[in-house]
Amino acid sequence: MLLKHVTITLLASVLLIAHPSWANEAFELRAERMTILGKETKSMAAMVKGRTEFDADDFLYGALHMHMAMDGLLQLFPAGSHGGDSAAKAKIWDNWEDFTAQASATADAIAVLAIAADKGNEQAIRQAFGKLAKSCSSCHRKYRNKH
Ligand code: HEC
Repeated sequence: MLLKHVTITLLASVLLIAHPSWANEAFELRAERMTILGKETKSMAAMVKGRTEFDADDFLYGALHMHMAMDGLLQLFPAGSHGGDSAAKAKIWDNWEDFTAQASATADAIAVLAIAADKGNEQAIRQAFGKLAKSCSSCHRKYRNKH
């Protein structure tokens, strides 16, 4: 029930994110998505570290929000859209298959986390969050420049 309610609320908010009509818009749109991923990861990390109260529903809500931020993310990486303010490395497009696999690994980790959170299993949530966080840094290490 909660899952359904949260999904509908979040779907409404994510649909407001426009589709890119130009490649140079892609950077801003993907940065928006990444910012969502970053915020949710941060608040989950605070719960894992005991700085805020551990709440399985918050993990579920966060995981659904992240799931939607991941939806269509790869389309926001049109070929050659690096440079300027973007921290994306040019080699993304030489290694597109691997880049895609990295995105899938993150999407899978989010799904595993959502299931654990829906069951309210704290141990499984902690494990799933650890895997998820690793999947983010794995992609960043390879494909994101440090500013
Ligand atoms: C498939 C590769 C990939 C995955 C997976 C990925 N990222 Fe990113 N992320 C990038 C790239 C590339 C950039 C740089 C984008 C740019 O500047 O054009 C980025 C940028 C960011 C930024 C900076 C956004 C800004 O304002 O410029 C944050 C925050 C971020 N990612 C968080 C996350 C988190 C948290 C996860 C995991 C839940 C994650 N990312 C998963 C590739 C990835």
